[in-house]
Amino acid sequence: MASKYQAPRGTFDVLPANAHARARVERTAAEIFARAGYEPIATPAFEDTELFERGVGRSTDIVRKEMFTFEDKGGRSITLRPEGTAPICRAYLEHGMHKLAQPVKLSYVGPFFRHERPQAGRYRQFHQIGAEAIGTDSPLADAEAIMLLTDLLGELGVPGVELRLGSLGSPQARRAYLEELKAHLRANEGKLSKDVRERIDLNPLRAFDSDDEGTQAVMASAPTIVERLDGEDAEHFAAVRALLETAGIAYRIDPTLVRGLDYYTRTIFSFVCEGLGAQSEVGGGGRYDGLIEQLGGPPTPAVGWAAGIERILLALGEDEEGIGRDAFLAVADEGQRRRALALASELRHAGLAVEVDLAGRSLKGQLKHADRVGARRVLILESEGGAQLRDMESGEQRPVDPARLLEEIGGAG
Ligand code: HAM
Repeated sequence: MASKYQAPRGTFDVLPANAHARARVERTAAEIFARAGYEPIATPAFEDTELFERGVGRSTDIVRKEMFTFEDKGGRSITLRPEGTAPICRAYLEHGMHKLAQPVKLSYVGPFFRHERPQAGRYRQFHQIGAEAIGTDSPLADAEAIMLLTDLLGELGVPGVELRLGSLGSPQARRAYLEELKAHLRANEGKLSKDVRERIDLNPLRAFDSDDEGTQAVMASAPTIVERLDGEDAEHFAAVRALLETAGIAYRIDPTLVRGLDYYTRTIFSFVCEGLGAQSEVGGGGRYDGLIEQLGGPPTPAVGWAAGIERILLALGEDEEGIGRDAFLAVADEGQRRRALALASELRHAGLAVEVDLAGRSLKGQLKHADRVGARRVLILESEGGAQLRDMESGEQRPVDPARLLEEIGGAG
């Protein structure tokens, strides 16, 4: 019977059929983080609204349109976290982590919330895996961040991934560049599409994405921020690129790369998966050297990324099989049910995956069910302590010594 209630728009239930694939993604990330020394951290699912206004930026779409914000019973403005970097920087300051050896390397996984228009790969509650290295401006940290996400997507087998790399320089350099770009657009105003013309002041970078021919011709000769990097910004970017080349990580410089959060400085990157359609970014991030200061802390450079678990799963395009069962314990005789449950428990303690019938099925029904749950063998407990072991693949069945069950079931197969 269909229920009258449904999961809220833009949300979904994780059912057992996809929970295994999801667990593999999280497990793989946890192993990669552990090997590289990125310690796990978890922050609350909601924070004071101001943290995101200051951290992510009041002019971003996220803050202007997409936050789930409400007043709590004490009259405070609360927001379900739309991203994880500002909360982690808040925690870094709150717990005095700037006094630890730097950089502090952290990793996280959990739900995030954005009130976006739902579509394939875009949800209102989604899940990110992320890593942050806080307290260093070394290009080594940028390169390591990119390597970790490369490893994650590689180990999971996400197909058709492209790494796009850019640099925004310092905030001052970026401001100067945007003025230059606007001047270029204004000088060619007549050749631009209406859409781009109307947004010269609001968002001049969008002109790079236009599919209008006239606009594209104008953009072919437009200055790019990457060309305008100078001094330490240019050196930093060159160093990150050299490190990626040494590590054999392929990338494409994308001089028009932009990200939807205001805190980025210098390196930015995006991992795009061609098979994903409109929501093609599986993960991305960059350096945010001014964020901690923005939140009231000391100047603290940092870099990190987050990847969307749902997008990774979509890109992988398959549900993972559940774990198989080493054995199913069936009873030929009702009197054996207690023994079956006790024995299942004993075998589980020994590390085996074992199920028993909990629904009072007949022996025939139990064998059918054992097949359904993918049990390799069925141990049939008979009256008087006897037992038969049935191989579900070959259908062979033979009596076994009840004293040697662990060896029998734990062994080959
Ligand atoms: P972001 O680019 O906003 O960055 O999100 C990171 C990833 O989360 C995206 O690449 C995408 O895979 C996934 N994602 C974002 N929005 C949705 C959505 N509505 N539905 C499904 N998946 C989504 C950040 O959040 C930064 N905190 C990343 C970062 C960490 N930068 C530095 N450190």
